Amino acid sequence: MKTANLLLALEDDVLRHDVVCRLENSERHCSFDEQNPSDWRGLLNRVSQHRPEILLIELSAIKADLANSLRAIKKSAPQTKIVALHSSDDPKTILAAMRAGANEFIHPPFEETFEAAIERVINSNTEEQRPERRGKVVGFLSAKGGCGATTLACHIAADLKLQTGQNVLLADLDLSSGMVGFLMKIESQYSVLDAISNLGRLDESLWKALVSEWKPGVGVIPGPDAFSYDSAPARDELRHLVRFMRTQHDWVVLDLGRSFTEVTAALYQELDDLLLVSVLEVTALHGLKAIAQKLRDRGEDMSKLQLILNRTPKMMDMTHEDLQKILGRPLYAMLPNDYPSLYQAYSTGTLLPANNRLAQQFSVLTTKLAGIEAPKPQRKFSLFR
Ligand SMILES: Nc1ncnc2c1ncn2[C@@H]1O[C@H](COP(=O)(O)OP(=O)(O)OP(=O)(O)O)[C@@H](O)[C@H]1O
Ligand SMILES: [Mg+2]
Repeated sequence: MKTANLLLALEDDVLRHDVVCRLENSERHCSFDEQNPSDWRGLLNRVSQHRPEILLIELSAIKADLANSLRAIKKSAPQTKIVALHSSDDPKTILAAMRAGANEFIHPPFEETFEAAIERVINSNTEEQRPERRGKVVGFLSAKGGCGATTLACHIAADLKLQTGQNVLLADLDLSSGMVGFLMKIESQYSVLDAISNLGRLDESLWKALVSEWKPGVGVIPGPDAFSYDSAPARDELRHLVRFMRTQHDWVVLDLGRSFTEVTAALYQELDDLLLVSVLEVTALHGLKAIAQKLRDRGEDMSKLQLILNRTPKMMDMTHEDLQKILGRPLYAMLPNDYPSLYQAYSTGTLLPANNRLAQQFSVLTTKLAGIEAPKPQRKFSLFR
């Protein structure tokens, strides 16, 4: 049987004695402490430091405004459930207590109300403690400008939905020159910066209003149209936003822009994978090595850093192994060069068609990322398809 820890804030001796006896004789064996509510500041401190699961508080001991007082308690310990005790079941008092934020209201005779109320509060706590849905977060970062991070983020986000059937969010955290909204043809008045300015009141319904639907199951939140470094979000805010995103979606795909910025520094620990995209050019490979070194110097977990070589030429003057030696790490994927198809897709406002060779390589990458089995190649002349 689940137990709970309680804080009793009861002034009236008879009431106190009755409650203590009930708790001591209860089958639940709840642990409890006491704090005199006449010392209101002391009570608030106690609640905020110890964060009891349940606060049993005598309403008549609250001398100041009831709503403000209970709100102050909720603010000090948002998870604490408040059970209000009163000498009578006066409807006006009950209503005022519930409106002020009390979770339960009990009154004598306690035989009828006490155990049932504690039971309900404990059960509701168990419900709320179910783990939140935790989606996976994958970031795409260009080793230097123009390597293909945005192209990959858009295609892989769409492909994750296709291959897993799960709910995907594509978010543009390239704050200074994000192109996700443009490539996905999203016309939204809201950007990630609006989400950041509303962090305090972000919930499911506000989030739905901020995110645009690209196709069912793929939400997009673009970068801002205009950005100044004065309005750059703080590291904490970025982390808070991404943590919230992963409670709302199975997959969160982030376009992190190019090179090692404040955004990547803030978010690396939140990511499940960082896909660092380079091309076979000296400056890009130098950028890639520099970013990997920076992460190593910071003592970050290198197992989630995945290197991708994009726009790989058909003929390379070095082998795959040579390249891995230069980079000091294995390559996660090598993607072919197909500028004309991308150009055509983008100019007609779509992504690559599924039968395109580059699109098929994107799918292989998605399969690897999602840890799912690659689809078996279809035989051309099968009777049973
Ligand atoms: N595999 C590829 N083959 C050919 N062209 C590609 C490939 N991947 C991306 N491109 C092209 O390269 C250009 C840059 O791509 P993209 O915008 O995705 O890069 P980025 O890393 O996001 O750049 P930025 O630093 O500007 O954000 C685009 O014109 C895109 O169509
Ligand atoms: Mg980009």
